[in-house]
Amino acid sequence: MSLVPMRQILDEAEKGDYGVGAYNVNNMEQLQAIMWAADETKSPVILQVSKTALKYTDKKLLVAMVNVVADTYKDIPVSLHLDHGPSLELVKEVIDLGFTSVMIDASRMTLEENIAITKEVVEYAHPKGVAVQAELGKVPYLGSEQLDIDWNEIMTDPDEAKKMVKETGVDALAVAIGNAHGFFREKSEPDFNRLAKIRAKLPNTPLILHGASDWVNGKVVKAIEGGICAFNIDTDTRIAFCSAICKVAGDKHCEVNDPRKFLKVARDDVQKAVERKIRMFAVK
Ligand code: G3H
Ligand code: 13P
Ligand code: ZN
Repeated sequence: MSLVPMRQILDEAEKGDYGVGAYNVNNMEQLQAIMWAADETKSPVILQVSKTALKYTDKKLLVAMVNVVADTYKDIPVSLHLDHGPSLELVKEVIDLGFTSVMIDASRMTLEENIAITKEVVEYAHPKGVAVQAELGKVPYLGSEQLDIDWNEIMTDPDEAKKMVKETGVDALAVAIGNAHGFFREKSEPDFNRLAKIRAKLPNTPLILHGASDWVNGKVVKAIEGGICAFNIDTDTRIAFCSAICKVAGDKHCEVNDPRKFLKVARDDVQKAVERKIRMFAVK
């Protein structure tokens, strides 16, 4: 199967009362690992790429690799999504490269600004069959943002969520209900009450949960019952990747938790080695 529209994967998850994982991809090995897991379990999968990942990889190479795997695993629905799109410019660029879905993350802007930019993205994306995800409320990056979080201040307001979807025509909404990126610290209990209110206002909009690496069993079930149909996962798979490398290297106290930290320097050193060989071979 070639890449499928994101909305199809989300709508089927909603109908079937299950959640779909949206996994961050930076390289071939992560891509293969995710696809092998999806194939083994015969599950749909969302492959998502951040702006940092786009800088780390070659955009066209990444899109080509994703298209190859989507073609290889014909019975697995696969969607290619821009995670936390920072600007209209990048959104347009990846849509033109073949992404089937984009997120525009204007969650740090005012509601009006968030609505305005999301609307522009929807106007560009929809005629091309590309789905759009927005974020309302803030899902913090604990560790890099302040530690003293006023959760009530940053969680999604259900009335604003309704306004956001109505005025933009966005396909999916990332909500803040006490979830946070990374493994650091979330709200002690997610605000499922708030999720129910958002759901009541938006019965037909797929809701997305970012920072889901540390969400497990009971919490996940309650989230799906509450209307979440996709879970964004990055930290968990980063740590799996790095821990395995540290284990092979025999480093018990390895603190690297981003594969790119290993792979970028490895790639640079391979380039240098090949350049040395090429110069050595160029004997006249
Ligand atoms: O929420 C952000 C994702 O974890 C992507 O992280 O920008 O380091 O690729 P990244
Ligand atoms: P985690 O790193 O906490 O899994 O969050 C991932 C995410 O939300 C990507 O958008
Ligand atoms: Zn996120």
